[in-house]
Amino acid sequence: MKRDSASPLSEDIEAISPSPSSVILNKEKFVEILSEIEIHNDIVQLKKDIFDLRNAIDCINNHEDGLFTTDENSETVSLRKDVLIAELNQILESQTCERAKYYVRRLSQGVRSIRTSRVNDINLLRWKEYDEILTDSLWIIPTRDTSGAHLGWYWGNFIPQIPHQMLLRYTKKDDWVLDPFVGSGTTLIECRRLGRNGIGIELNEEVAQRARELIEKENNPHSVKTEVIVGDSRVMDLQGILDQFGAKQVQLLIIHPPYHDIIKFSASGEDLSNAQTTEEFLAMFGQLIDNVTPVLERGRFLVLVIGDKYSKGEWIPLGFYCMSEVLKRGYLLKSIIVKNFDETRAKRKQKELWRYRALAGGFYVFKHEYIFLFQNL
Ligand SMILES: C[S@@+](CC[C@H](N)C(=O)[O-])C[C@H]1O[C@@H](n2cnc3c(N)ncnc32)[C@H](O)[C@@H]1O
Repeated sequence: MKRDSASPLSEDIEAISPSPSSVILNKEKFVEILSEIEIHNDIVQLKKDIFDLRNAIDCINNHEDGLFTTDENSETVSLRKDVLIAELNQILESQTCERAKYYVRRLSQGVRSIRTSRVNDINLLRWKEYDEILTDSLWIIPTRDTSGAHLGWYWGNFIPQIPHQMLLRYTKKDDWVLDPFVGSGTTLIECRRLGRNGIGIELNEEVAQRARELIEKENNPHSVKTEVIVGDSRVMDLQGILDQFGAKQVQLLIIHPPYHDIIKFSASGEDLSNAQTTEEFLAMFGQLIDNVTPVLERGRFLVLVIGDKYSKGEWIPLGFYCMSEVLKRGYLLKSIIVKNFDETRAKRKQKELWRYRALAGGFYVFKHEYIFLFQNL
């Protein structure tokens, strides 16, 4: 199918919803049909025309000359068929002519114009088409996305759905994303898919190299830059790195640090997983926030993904401690999302043992982690 980058609406919808359920219409023709329908003052006539239009769209029956097309370009609009049919049904169910006309006008406006916020490409005039985007604060995601280069090989990675959701919600196409604990490169693989530029920092050279190789395996249809740089993200000259790529600032930070010492990622003293105490871990985490904040554009978002830990009979709320470190630095808390925990193979095998321990020790087995969302004011 031909794609035209001059048509942002088609681009956005295509990025989010699969094309098989879409209809491609000639924009001008569709708007003209809707205008002709809108001038009816007789609700019966108005509904009859909508009924015919709905049936034509339902069967992609070319009764209106030139309404349907197969190629996308700047003169066409690609709409989710199920959503469009539902909108036409809503018009058919209207009790008054005024109401029906209001819905016709709204449909026409959603086709003619695009309304987006400052931080993403979601067309708010066609918001019903984005049902893939989560908006609730409880995420139960039963299976990891293992498509393409997402192999899930790295112990301690996050599920690709996390960066996927965050990129759609908090970045525009061609924006810059920084992941200072990039690990196996999950964020950068998603950047390639969704057409965002990404920089990842990773302390462990071998992990960084493997990540680079994997990221290269993912197609790069939007020709974005995805770079993995080795180093300690608490102290690296991030502005210098951005300058090299011609980027002034980044528009999103995705931060997925070690959950203190739950997984030891290396033997390095610069590795947050080797902090001797919770206090030291938080101090290191604070250094990271201090280092990344100057490169995050004002008004844009910081995403922190972290879970808690259990030690010597005590629940250590690492998530809330880290949240408080970010808040101390003047960020605005926008949301706390609770997400089900991806059970590791080791944990699955030990399920019975953990249940026994929980019953005996008077605690609950971890089943969730947090996604904290902050805005840089
Ligand atoms: C929880 S993992 C991130 C996993 C990643 N989200 C993924 O999907 O693969 C944390 C990563 O931070 C790295 N790390 C630890 N301390 C670091 C530091 N000071 N600077 C940069 N990376 C560090 C570890 O080597 C590890 O790969």
